[in-house]
Amino acid sequence: MIQRTLSIIKPDGVSRNLIGEVIKRIESAGLKIIAMKMIRMNKVQAKGFYQVHEGKPFYESLTDFMSSGPCVVMVLEGDNAIEKYRKLMGATDYRMAEEGTIRREFATDIEKNVVHGSDSPESAHFEIGYFFNQLEIINE
Ligand code: CMP
Repeated sequence: MIQRTLSIIKPDGVSRNLIGEVIKRIESAGLKIIAMKMIRMNKVQAKGFYQVHEGKPFYESLTDFMSSGPCVVMVLEGDNAIEKYRKLMGATDYRMAEEGTIRREFATDIEKNVVHGSDSPESAHFEIGYFFNQLEIINE
């Protein structure tokens, strides 16, 4: 099933020059980048994006981190894209992530885990719409 998912290269990934590394893995996996831009969220925007985590103990720190520097946001499209990209990323906690995944190789912390990806079709719909309008997404 062809799906879309939202990918974010987080501020740690951007500042550590991992943009190319992450994009190379996305393209090698056969996922198509159909929208992409670099943005800098403010605290309010980061809180809006992560509103499902409101009230969790890591919410304040996470939204401080996500507004601390630029992120690269992308829409990925492909067969089973949500699960495929989650496999490329590895588990949220890099210590639990499989060998060869982005987080296992590059994350330094459960929060500073280099990348984000949508976890369901519903969250992909919300997350893509949070950053992109119709005109910014390539529809072939
Ligand atoms: P992400 O996939 O972007 O979704 C929520 C983010 O919260 C997660 O990656 C981490 O960056 C961060 N986070 C920090 N602590 C935790 C935790 N204990 N459980 C889940 N996510 C956490």
